Amino acid sequence: MSNNESWGTRVGLILAMAGNAVGLGNFLRFPVQAIQNGGGAFIIPYLVCFLLMGIPLLWIEWSMGRFGGNRGHHSTPFILDALDKRPFWKYIGVFGIFTNLAVAAYYCYIESWTMAYVYHSATGTFDGLSQSQVAAFFGNYVDVFQSTTGIPFEAIIFFVICLALNTFILSRGLHGVERAAKIGMPLLILFGFILAFRGLTLGNSGASAEHPTASAIDGLNFLWTPQFDSLSNPKVWLAAAGQIFFTLSVGMGSIQCYASYLKTKDDIALNAASAGFMNEFVEVVLGSSIVIPIAAGYLGLDWVKENAGFGMAFQTMPYLFEKWGPFLSTIAGVMWFGLLFFAGITSSLAMGTPWMGFMQDEFGWSREKGAISFGTIVLILGLPTVIFFSQGVFDEYDYWAGTVSLVVFALVETILFSWIFGMDKGWKEINMGGDIQVPVFYKFVIKYITPVLLLFVFLGSLLTPIGNNWQEAFSQLFSGNGWTLDNGSIVKQITSAGLREQIATATDPATIEALKDKLLYISGARILLLSVFTGIGILVYIAHKRRLKTGGVA
Ligand code: PHE
Repeated sequence: MSNNESWGTRVGLILAMAGNAVGLGNFLRFPVQAIQNGGGAFIIPYLVCFLLMGIPLLWIEWSMGRFGGNRGHHSTPFILDALDKRPFWKYIGVFGIFTNLAVAAYYCYIESWTMAYVYHSATGTFDGLSQSQVAAFFGNYVDVFQSTTGIPFEAIIFFVICLALNTFILSRGLHGVERAAKIGMPLLILFGFILAFRGLTLGNSGASAEHPTASAIDGLNFLWTPQFDSLSNPKVWLAAAGQIFFTLSVGMGSIQCYASYLKTKDDIALNAASAGFMNEFVEVVLGSSIVIPIAAGYLGLDWVKENAGFGMAFQTMPYLFEKWGPFLSTIAGVMWFGLLFFAGITSSLAMGTPWMGFMQDEFGWSREKGAISFGTIVLILGLPTVIFFSQGVFDEYDYWAGTVSLVVFALVETILFSWIFGMDKGWKEINMGGDIQVPVFYKFVIKYITPVLLLFVFLGSLLTPIGNNWQEAFSQLFSGNGWTLDNGSIVKQITSAGLREQIATATDPATIEALKDKLLYISGARILLLSVFTGIGILVYIAHKRRLKTGGVA
């Protein structure tokens, strides 16, 4: 990615943007969120969030990106600066590089599992293993130093291979990203269709003596029977909004970066919507037709509800595939983990581009240097998630970078776009060169509804009440008992209140020791994240000073 690169073809651009959005989130995060939030109860808030928050944010981010890109900026610090000159904004823009690096650190780790699992499926590692043996394989795999999977330090080896591959493709610039998307996306969709077909047609045929009532239909019904009473439950809304953010990659900075390589007259209105809808198709249609119905088809819906977690994909699926005979199970395993791999890599490549764009724009780095430094940062930041996986480092990254940062950044950039840059100018940007005219209704949505929703989501996460039970919380508040925060609220998370409580109430010395250890690792993870954020902030400061000296040109 250099200042004058641009997308090769329109198909390439849409596939790359869709590849950015379609990721592990579609296949691993979505089903889990849907189950944990009541299946059909989740779907309506989810779709509403897509229409009122997701799509508007896509248009905002695409047009911000093209606007900045046409002025020579390819990452959010100076893209935001192009929208408003007050110094504050470029430091807000730090989020748009930081989030990508921090998410990449744990995301690439999961991506590396998918590579390893393709290998193990192809070589028949899971053949003949029982359900608990397949599950144990995973535990063994992530236990880096004790693992007996056959390859010493396997988790680290695949992590490094995965990063090397990302680095290599990124070093080829936009062209490399576009190629990866052109190969990866069609294969992903093909594999997805085949597996979804199985999920949709399995019916009751997977029932067994052990699970006599198992039925794939139950899983599908659970997801697709809308429950309107959920509309008044903020807990479900927060989860739905969080999923929309993560899955569309909005509030991250990677869409702005991709869009900064558009030409002035390139369409945004239709392209952004197409990429967004493509993501939703993959998520809502393919993402919900594989793990849940197949698992419910063999193990029953109750099992699925109890075991929802992304362990399902790695700990259970290979076992279920075995039921299709040795040949088909190999194929299914390779397709399933291959699909996850393609979903993952087209997203992790997107996470590399803001950092590279920034270093190229501001410090004249080459693509290769940008790519290698990205790989190195992700390796350093990622190794703690690999080595201390069970000590909570992974979750800590996911919480601060993959959940909180997105909301904060999306809220602030929306205010900048619609209120400071101004909605009239913003609307022109969105529609300039457009192959469709965005319905005028959205001018109103982007100006009023999206920011207000984002504010609610932010406040809701900041001040989540105990048990995430809002009705109870409000009735307590109105009867004068105040507001008791949940340990999951941002306010409580900052001080690790939940963990400290556990330490205070635990009695067994070994447990106390383990919890204290965990606190230590979590603090370490935070220090790492904070230093990355500060480091990027300092680079932005230096870049700004340099710009002043050279009269605006780096
Ligand atoms: N949207 C991707 C997914 O659903 C994740 C992602 C995060 C992509 C950050 C790019 C940047 O998995």
